[in-house]
This record gives sequence, structure tokens and C-alpha cells, in this order.
Amino acid sequence: VVAAEVQQLQTHAQSKSLNLLFEPPSKKLPPIALDENKTRQVIMNFIDNAIYYTPLGGNIKVRLRPAGSNIQLEVKDSGIGVPVADQPKLFSKFYRADNAQKMRPDGTGLGLYLAKRVVEEQGGKIIFHSTEGRGSTFGFSFPVRVASPKVLAGKL
Ligand SMILES: Nc1ncnc2c1ncn2[C@@H]1O[C@H](COP(=O)(O)OP(=O)(O)OP(=O)(O)O)[C@@H](O)[C@H]1O
Ligand SMILES: [Mg+2]
Repeated sequence: VVAAEVQQLQTHAQSKSLNLLFEPPSKKLPPIALDENKTRQVIMNFIDNAIYYTPLGGNIKVRLRPAGSNIQLEVKDSGIGVPVADQPKLFSKFYRADNAQKMRPDGTGLGLYLAKRVVEEQGGKIIFHSTEGRGSTFGFSFPVRVASPKVLAGKL
């Protein structure tokens, strides 16, 4: 699913001379049950934002990997970043930071709001860190719910 989304947005990235790269997991990931369409839309929104808010010639890396007992997706860009003052409000409905509005006047400010809802309602967590003028990382992590023998043993 992630590879397909990256593929889909490759033409848009290339039109801005951005280097959009997918780094697949180094080993097979355990399956997780998610709403495919909604989760796909979240991934698309993260990459779409990275393309819009990264100046010409920049880099975007999409990484999918296991992290402890979670599966993590990260979209890391070398873009304009989010000013510290805007960071707490970023996932609210219709919120757009000034630097983003300057770079791209149109935009609803709904993508991240919806992403957070879709991720959290499925038991996941949003990943976000950014430095103004240097870049941002947006993503999510979902726990792999595999009952370990130890946990089971305690319950039987
Ligand atoms: N990769 C990014 N780099 C810098 N700022 C970002 C990035 N992604 C999101 N933002 C900030 O978060 C705000 C909200 O993003 P969101 O995707 O919700 O809305 P939008 O891109 O402005 O509009 P749309 O709803 O049409 O996608 C953006 O306006 C911008 O300020
Ligand atoms: Mg957006």
C-alpha cells in the first residue's frame, strides 16, 4: 500500500525536482488490520504535504519499518518545517501555518486533522517533529497485537 502511494505521487514530486524515495522494511512485517482506504488516504496526505511544503530540489523519504512492538511509517522531508509556535495547533481543523500559506495559498487545513483522527481511532499514534527551515517528519505507529506466550500464560 505504501509503495503504491509513493509510486502514485512520483510524477508530482518529479515535476518539482524532488527526490521522493521509498525505503521498504528490511524484513517482512507482521500483518496489521487497518481500514485500507482511510489509512491509504493518510499516507497520501503526508506525502502530498511533503511535496507541497518542500522547495524545488529537496528530498522526501518514506520509511516503513518495525520499531519495537510497533510498525512505523515516517515521511521525512527537507522542507520549510513548522515554526515552534504553530506546532501545538497543527492537527486542529482548518489550521495552516503562515509559512505554509505563503508557499501554497490554497489548502483547507483538513488533511492532518483527519489523519490524526483516522490514526487514533484505530489505536495508533501520530509521529511529528519538525524544525522551521530545515524539514519535518510526519507519520504514524501502530502496535502489533500479537499475544505473546507469556501474556497468554498469565491469563490461563
Ligand atoms: N510536510 C510539511 N512541512 C511543513 N508544514 C507542513 C507539512 N505538512 C503539514 N504542514 C503544516 O500543517 C498544516 C496543515 O496541513 P494539512 O494537510 O492539514 O492542510 P493543508 O496542506 O494546508 O491543506 P489540505 O487540507 O488541502 O491538505 C499546513 O498548512 C502546514 O502549515
Ligand atoms: Mg495537506
